[in-house]
Amino acid sequence: MRDFLQRLPKAELHLHIEGSLEPELMFALAERNGIDLPYASVEAVRAAYEFDDLPAFLELYYQGMSVLRTAEDFHDLAMDYFRRAHDEGVVHVEMHFDPQAHLVRGIELDVVMEGLNLAQRHAERELGMSTALIMAFLRDRSAEEAMKVLESAAPYWEMIDAVGLDSAERGHPPSKFVEVFQRARMLGIPRVAHAGEEGPPEYIREALDLLDVCRIDHGVRCLEDPDLVTRLRDEAVVLTVCPLSNVKLKVVERMADHPLPQLLDAGLRLTINSDDPAYFGGGVLDNYLACYQAFDWSRETFVQLAGTAIEAAFMSDARRLDLH
Ligand code: HPA
Ligand code: ZN
Repeated sequence: MRDFLQRLPKAELHLHIEGSLEPELMFALAERNGIDLPYASVEAVRAAYEFDDLPAFLELYYQGMSVLRTAEDFHDLAMDYFRRAHDEGVVHVEMHFDPQAHLVRGIELDVVMEGLNLAQRHAERELGMSTALIMAFLRDRSAEEAMKVLESAAPYWEMIDAVGLDSAERGHPPSKFVEVFQRARMLGIPRVAHAGEEGPPEYIREALDLLDVCRIDHGVRCLEDPDLVTRLRDEAVVLTVCPLSNVKLKVVERMADHPLPQLLDAGLRLTINSDDPAYFGGGVLDNYLACYQAFDWSRETFVQLAGTAIEAAFMSDARRLDLH
């Protein structure tokens, strides 16, 4: 089954590129940039990756990315991930990135965009992969700041495949960002949002009704609201589910408790993704394998999940035809 899942052409729709920073690269970039890390070794970094919830993870995630300073750093970060994903049989990667997490450290948007965009072109040329860019707003910061970031990204609007909404969910409902997402819509930029990871089903409804998103990132808590599940099924909304992330952040206790089988039984359109692979114990293939081990799914089920990801991806019709 491992060989089959490795060879299956997989698209990844839910990845935070800053969360793909492996401890080895963290140390290499710290050295290159003359930064002292609060860890003695790569092993010490990995040992620190035990989280009680999303906010506990986010603290280490924002701290880890402090080694990213130059366009070359962002390029190396993304290429490092694209190579690993390519080895796992991933043919298309959509990466969220968090401009505000860099702006607050004095790293300009131009630096981030230059590095990530160069990596996108390299991935296409060297690895034959397609990629997409999702500019995410930090929901635990103000909507005014998010709007400023969107406006200041004007030179890059053409290069941004979607805007997203991430960071600490509880207490920061999608409704807070209505104007920002309306503006993105006016600009013709597609929209996605994290909802129903730690937050209630109501946040999923808000993301659909108020932000007009085309996909929900996570969304697993929809099961607490049967009417919402019916709606998600009827409207064929795609959920980007991240099973190993949900275990690591204690959204569920163990893989065996993960609601993926119920979500599938409910007829929802699902995809399997890594979220923050360096922090949560593996990439896309590891997430597929964890599902196989926990649920003993058939090849057909995995073909269906991988197919849904390609259908729901931000990619050209020509590329989609190529992959189907
Ligand atoms: N959830 C919400 N925000 C995030 C995550 C996540 O798993 N990773 C990076 N930002
Ligand atoms: Zn995420």
